[in-house]
Amino acid sequence: MTKLLVIYYSSYGHMFKMARAAADAVRDKENYEVKLKKIPELEQARKGMSSQEAYVKAREAQKDIPEATHDDLVWADGIIWGIPTRFGNMPAQVKQFIDTAGSLWAEGKLEGKATGIMSSSNTAHGGQESTILTSLIPLLHLGMIFVGSPYGENQEMFSDKLIGGSPYGPSTIAGSDGSMMPAEEDLTMAGRLARRVARVASKIKDLD
Ligand SMILES: Cc1cc2nc3c(=O)[nH]c(=O)nc-3n(C[C@H](O)[C@H](O)[C@H](O)COP(=O)(O)O)c2cc1C
Repeated sequence: MTKLLVIYYSSYGHMFKMARAAADAVRDKENYEVKLKKIPELEQARKGMSSQEAYVKAREAQKDIPEATHDDLVWADGIIWGIPTRFGNMPAQVKQFIDTAGSLWAEGKLEGKATGIMSSSNTAHGGQESTILTSLIPLLHLGMIFVGSPYGENQEMFSDKLIGGSPYGPSTIAGSDGSMMPAEEDLTMAGRLARRVARVASKIKDLD
């Protein structure tokens, strides 16, 4: 079995939907085992945002998704990340999760794992691509092998519609007030990245 982890953080549900689409795309495939996990919320963020209806609703929708631990990273052969944009970069919740994985780095426990990244932002040019590219830096330090989303298998990226997607990874546009939800095309591209990471992870495993 090739083990796949879809791990995400989501304040308002966009990355949650993308992560679920990614997990669903590989869930029933023979020879793959899939876990969908959310990165734990930070207490300060919970306090700051719990007056927002959209946040409360999105947290409620995710209540049955188990929280990720570092053991999940070690367990997986392939890891798909859902990382929304905060000022063109990853949220503190994701940073905290990665920054506390120092012992895994020291022991080389995450080296050789296939990985891909998805993102979201409110505006079309608000930083989805920079979030994916900057999130890649710590993953490379941890020794992971990056899998992108090429144009060949993602023809949706040639569309003139207001959708996400880049060669760096799938993404979605939440809209200036956060009320847009991932387009069908975004969810399709999320699933394709998951399948691509799965294929690469299974091949790398064969090399071990
Ligand atoms: C502190 C903060 C910073 C943000 N920075 C950006 C930004 O730089 N560009 C942008 O387009 N959206 C920005 N947003 C909007 C988020 O990217 C958006 O809410 C998120 O992608 C939605 O995904 P989620 O529902 O999975 O959390 C920011 C939101 C917050 C709370």
